[in-house]
Amino acid sequence: MARTRPGRSCPRHYRYSPAVFSRAADLKAQSLYIVGGLYGNPFALEAVLDLARRENATLVFNGDFNWFNVDPAEFEGVNETVLRHVALRGNVETEIAGEDSGAGCGCAYPEWVGDAEVERSNEILRRLRETASAYPELRDRLAVLPMHLVAEIAGLRVGIAHGDAESLAGWQFSQEALCKRPERAGALLAGAAIDVFACTHTCLPVMQDFATSGGTALIVNNGAAGMPNFRDTHFGLATRIAGAPSAQALYGARLGAIVVEAVPVRYDHDAWLARFDRVWPAGSPAALSYRKRIASGPGYEVKQAVRTGARAGTFSRAA
Ligand SMILES: [Fe+2]
Repeated sequence: MARTRPGRSCPRHYRYSPAVFSRAADLKAQSLYIVGGLYGNPFALEAVLDLARRENATLVFNGDFNWFNVDPAEFEGVNETVLRHVALRGNVETEIAGEDSGAGCGCAYPEWVGDAEVERSNEILRRLRETASAYPELRDRLAVLPMHLVAEIAGLRVGIAHGDAESLAGWQFSQEALCKRPERAGALLAGAAIDVFACTHTCLPVMQDFATSGGTALIVNNGAAGMPNFRDTHFGLATRIAGAPSAQALYGARLGAIVVEAVPVRYDHDAWLARFDRVWPAGSPAALSYRKRIASGPGYEVKQAVRTGARAGTFSRAA
């Protein structure tokens, strides 16, 4: 049965109720960068630190900051740096922090992702688990990271998780599910009592608005901070939420006094590609699954990601 196969399953301990977000804010901030899917790219990490530093913004890493960093020094470096900031665990951190649960990479891949790709993800996770086993103290710190967070910016309530409003590795807030089953996502959003839900995990970005009893709510998925998200581009994306717009933003929406934006994470592409090739040579599982995307982006366009405007004030620029 598909749901019990490694890489396809969503373990019970990954789940929570959307009602967990109906709580007082865990943190209040003036401006926020939410960074999901760094995937162990140290150059993207430098770039987001720089973005946040320049405007004194709070950084929240919402999981999967590990993936390609199977080199021990890089594993240690990425985790030591990220854990100085607010962080949630993704499926990758959950799986490497715990013993092998049989969930493989914990991605809970849906049917549109092929078996070969799922198996390669499980293999990458095995390599990363091997590296992580030499760092028990870091694994302990990853294990106790929360799965969800509520932030507040000027009265706007922001729910942050890795997957969706009910699972660490949920796909309901993927661009695919938001296209096919928006009513399901809308119901999850209503149950969570928040204005903006920021997530990642499903690898492609999307920003979509929903009518709620309180007005307008927004789901913003940043795709990946550590890999390109659009065709023929070389930058990652982070979600920025602040009182004033950023000149860097690629697209965004306004909810009252607050802007929610997709901001490019412009890392050193050549250095990252060279590092990736050294650690994951041709024929390796990561090279087969990700090199093409890292080199030239996925077959996805900005106009596919921007699904706002009917309700929220919106803008987008050419990538
Ligand atoms: Fe993930």
